[in-house]
Amino acid sequence: MRVISVVNSKGGVGKTTVSTNLACALARSDVRLTLADADYQKSLTRWNAARSGYPAIAGCLDFRKLDADALKAAKTDVVLVDGRAGLRKQSLQDLITLSDVLVVPLSASPLDVDATLALMKAVNENKGVRKNRIAVHFVLNRVRKSPATARVVAEVEEKLGAPVAVVLPDSVEFQRMVQAGGGMFESGHPGRVAIGTDLMRLADLCLG
Ligand SMILES: Nc1ncnc2c1ncn2[C@@H]1O[C@H](COP(=O)(O)OP(=O)(O)O)[C@@H](O)[C@H]1O
Ligand SMILES: [Mg+2]
Repeated sequence: MRVISVVNSKGGVGKTTVSTNLACALARSDVRLTLADADYQKSLTRWNAARSGYPAIAGCLDFRKLDADALKAAKTDVVLVDGRAGLRKQSLQDLITLSDVLVVPLSASPLDVDATLALMKAVNENKGVRKNRIAVHFVLNRVRKSPATARVVAEVEEKLGAPVAVVLPDSVEFQRMVQAGGGMFESGHPGRVAIGTDLMRLADLCLG
């Protein structure tokens, strides 16, 4: 079983938005998928309950206690964890250790980049990450399309000292689709195909 965890200690960076859209991409891949909601706000749980008529997901576990045994009981190929903001040091290490892949969303805002650099200090202390057993993929979220986009992405990559795996645009359609229990795949947005392709690429990266 592969555990993919969407993490960032900062709130509002897009963990749940990325989780729901990555869940849609994974549901379209040939894997059995269970969701695990670590957030007290339960947004992922509500999203999954609102989801009907879309490719199947096995269910959504209450994962607030970060209990690794609860994941083993899922008995699916992949568990996708939506992390929560403000995880304490030990809880963060526990979540990283039970993961095979970390997906780290952030926007290009200096506040998000600084918070992510602080997060990465803790991530890079983890033995599994140091030994390359746990992969890390950054998602640059809420990027506004402009002639400066490539420079914005390059600047974030330089600060992170690592490439960004996927860039997602700033679009109210993400907000609308979370409400509807769907993802960009199911939206009528003109950017749906390009965004869907990027999300499938992220899913492939996560599946190794
Ligand atoms: N790419 C995006 N475009 C537009 N709005 C977004 C995007 N990503 C996130 N949001 C909005 O930003 C807010 C925070 O996103 P959310 O996924 O809830 O972050 P987190 O789970 O990290 O707290 C939400 O209102 C969400 O709808
Ligand atoms: Mg969230």
